[in-house]
Amino acid sequence: MQSNSYHTPVLLQSACDFLNVTPGQKYIDATFGGGGHTAEILRRGGLVLSIDQDLESVAIVHSNFTHLKEIVEEHKWHPVSGILFDLGVSSHQIDTGSRGFSFQTDGPLDMRMGISQITAADIVNQWPLSQLTSLLTDFGEIPAAKSLAEKIVDSRPLSTTHQLAEVTGKWTRQAFQALRIAVNDELGAINSTLPQALDILVPGGRLVVITFHSLEDRIVKNCFTDWEKQNLIKVLTPKPIGPETSEMDKNNRSKSAKLRAISKI
Ligand SMILES: C[S@@+](CC[C@H](N)C(=O)[O-])C[C@H]1O[C@@H](n2cnc3c(N)ncnc32)[C@H](O)[C@@H]1O
Repeated sequence: MQSNSYHTPVLLQSACDFLNVTPGQKYIDATFGGGGHTAEILRRGGLVLSIDQDLESVAIVHSNFTHLKEIVEEHKWHPVSGILFDLGVSSHQIDTGSRGFSFQTDGPLDMRMGISQITAADIVNQWPLSQLTSLLTDFGEIPAAKSLAEKIVDSRPLSTTHQLAEVTGKWTRQAFQALRIAVNDELGAINSTLPQALDILVPGGRLVVITFHSLEDRIVKNCFTDWEKQNLIKVLTPKPIGPETSEMDKNNRSKSAKLRAISKI
């Protein structure tokens, strides 16, 4: 398994196998991160346009992938044989305390992957109780969301990840996930970009999506089911592909990964 200190790529070989990387054909890596998948596509002879909204990532295009069609036009990147989304955060983002993604390292309540309008601190300190409760319910799937939201409101102002983690207690992982999803509009982004990806692909082109939580996976699964009913695609993964035990042993962060792939008709 390829590894670098920025991010260890997950499901690297499976993703590139499903992309069906063919020498000389054009691909898009919509979530460049540390470039592990891009490097493997290049190694297999593909040409890659890489995108990441994080300025600390050395992608070719620094932009939100929600602008996928515009980016493809601007770079005259046609025809496209495969598109990869390896969603979520990179290890670099989590491990950089000042980015505020991790409850293990103290840092400001930020959590922006790119240039989002709001930070986690804005949500935690400014959102009304009802909105905070919905966020913890919908994106954190926390059963006692209302009482947790009340605790947060009562503890205002909160400015660091450790201050928040003290309040969220045993629900910290879920609360941080909920905030991250909201700050980066993660579900909105994938929802609005999948149709663009389908439009861009050539017939026979591949779309591969790796998700790390059930909310995201549900969106991808439902979208693919819908397209299949309309005869627009063939689903290549009737069940999502997960990592082998050997990968999970080496890379803890791969454990929740699910890969789904389709071929455009
Ligand atoms: C899991 S990492 C990708 C790791 C990469 N495949 C590798 O091998 O290093 C996800 C990356 O996608 C980026 N990202 C997430 N959502 C994005 C979006 N809406 N637009 C652009 N980049 C996004 C993040 O900034 C992060 O760097």
